Amino acid sequence: PRKIIIDTDPGQDDAVAILLALASPEEIELLGITCVAGNVPLPLTTRNARIVCELAGRPDVAIYEGCDKPLGRDLVTAEHVHGKTGLDGPKLPEPTMPLAEGHAVDFIIDQLRTYAPGTVTLCPLGPLTNIATALQKAPDIASRIAKIVLMGGGYFEGGNITPTAEFNIYVDPQAADIVFKSGAPIVVMPLDVTHKVLVTKPRNDAFRAIGSPVGIAVAEMTDFFERFDKEKYGSAGAPLHDPCVTAYMIQPDLFTGRHINVEIETTSELTMGMTVADWWRVTDRKANATFMGEVNADGFFDLLTERLARL
Ligand code: BDR
Ligand code: CA
Repeated sequence: PRKIIIDTDPGQDDAVAILLALASPEEIELLGITCVAGNVPLPLTTRNARIVCELAGRPDVAIYEGCDKPLGRDLVTAEHVHGKTGLDGPKLPEPTMPLAEGHAVDFIIDQLRTYAPGTVTLCPLGPLTNIATALQKAPDIASRIAKIVLMGGGYFEGGNITPTAEFNIYVDPQAADIVFKSGAPIVVMPLDVTHKVLVTKPRNDAFRAIGSPVGIAVAEMTDFFERFDKEKYGSAGAPLHDPCVTAYMIQPDLFTGRHINVEIETTSELTMGMTVADWWRVTDRKANATFMGEVNADGFFDLLTERLARL
């Protein structure tokens, strides 16, 4: 299995991404979960990550508290999508498992220094504040990272928090800029891909039909989370953004994309947080990321449903 650290701001779709990882020990060894402020403030993202691990029967997972605000801007949250708690939908008990001691950023640095170079993959599912802070604090880790497989950005699909910016990148564009300039190999799951994995009614029914507490909770989470895209855009269902990252760690051939240059807009208020992706390779800027464009959505949901049924 590949060693990964999930960096997250749960979020119903983050929750599903975590569950998919926990259900897949043959492919994924989860070293720990690091929490960041994003969809909701940090105290709620650390709460929600613990709820999800307890739901999966895994109170042993090390969960760390990370940065509570972006590097240079005020925190923007997304209760309008995820609800007041960030994990609205299912009724789940308050968590009792403790947080791990120490700061998320130090945990990330320590794990990258402990294991052989090229063996630890970072899986960011929220704003990139923790990852950028680790890179700033310990520049030596950049060359030790196997890959950064992240959910963020969008190009042909536009943005979901401004016309040109996706939420995770918009919340902390400075952090995203540091990550994209780090030299570490990057795989991006942008809105162009995540808006193609929609929880339609039959897919939601398939989660519910698993019949376990996990299956039912995932059905209820995606029911809740769906409201927003359905009412606002007439989308056929909730887009499962973050699970694209953990699905890639299990079955990378579900996704196709291009290895291109991606730069982050950090100065213009109009286009702040835009991922300027040189899809057609019209510049000679160096490729720094594999930017995904297509996904086998049926294959993705087959994998997800089969794995969730294991928990
Ligand atoms: C991203 O923003 C959050 O609301 C989701 O959890 C996902 O990580 C989608 O833009
Ligand atoms: Ca997220």
